Amino acid sequence: MGDLYPRSHIEIDGPLARYYEQLLNLVTLGKYSTFIENAIRAMDIQPEDKILDLGAGSGYNAEYMVNYLNSDGRILGLDKSRVGIERFREKFQTNPSVRVKNSRIDEPLPYDSEFDKVLTSFVIHGLPHPARENLIKNARKALKPEGKFFILDYGEFELSELPLQIRLPFLAAECEYAYDYISRDWKAILVDFGFKPTGNKEFFDGFTRLLEAEKQSDREL
Ligand SMILES: C[S@@+](CC[C@H](N)C(=O)[O-])C[C@H]1O[C@@H](n2cnc3c(N)ncnc32)[C@H](O)[C@@H]1O
Repeated sequence: MGDLYPRSHIEIDGPLARYYEQLLNLVTLGKYSTFIENAIRAMDIQPEDKILDLGAGSGYNAEYMVNYLNSDGRILGLDKSRVGIERFREKFQTNPSVRVKNSRIDEPLPYDSEFDKVLTSFVIHGLPHPARENLIKNARKALKPEGKFFILDYGEFELSELPLQIRLPFLAAECEYAYDYISRDWKAILVDFGFKPTGNKEFFDGFTRLLEAEKQSDREL
């Protein structure tokens, strides 16, 4: 399904990218927008924050994040989806503080100690593990000292623990990388990559969560 990783289900483009959030609101019976609103609130965004959104899609999360910023705050989204980028630009064409660039996020990025916060939302579960590691390295390098990395994604659980009405759509929609993602200890992985876990806010009984981790200085590693 993906161009980069054929077994990935997150390389979203075309009609799916055009109607992505409407579709998610439909399958969650209207709960998706409230979920994102609550998750973004939990990021404790400050008015002057510089935020990097890795795999920003059509800018749905940016629409909520921008409400917390003043004229000094900035959001930079990175994505490789043609339709996603087109929609992102349409939404923020009158706001130069919110930009999107066509870029891969699983290859080394040029950003170094520039951002207060890095968000990756429903991306990392759909990547093969070495690509996830590259993304995490990009996030750490892009952050200022003590900057915060947020992973908004699935929680950690056994598939067999999920109620059938959630397990069946998960199995239908998700790829093998997602099955691997939910089985890993993400706080331990973040520690290995130079972060200190500082928050874990669960939604939908732990089916999804916002994981928060602070960049540790090289000295502290
Ligand atoms: C499931 S969507 C999530 C979009 C957005 N973060 C959100 O939560 O609404 C995953 C996004 O990651 C992007 N993506 C996947 N692999 C990527 C890669 N290697 N480099 C850049 N973008 C990627 C896709 O184009 C898609 O827009």
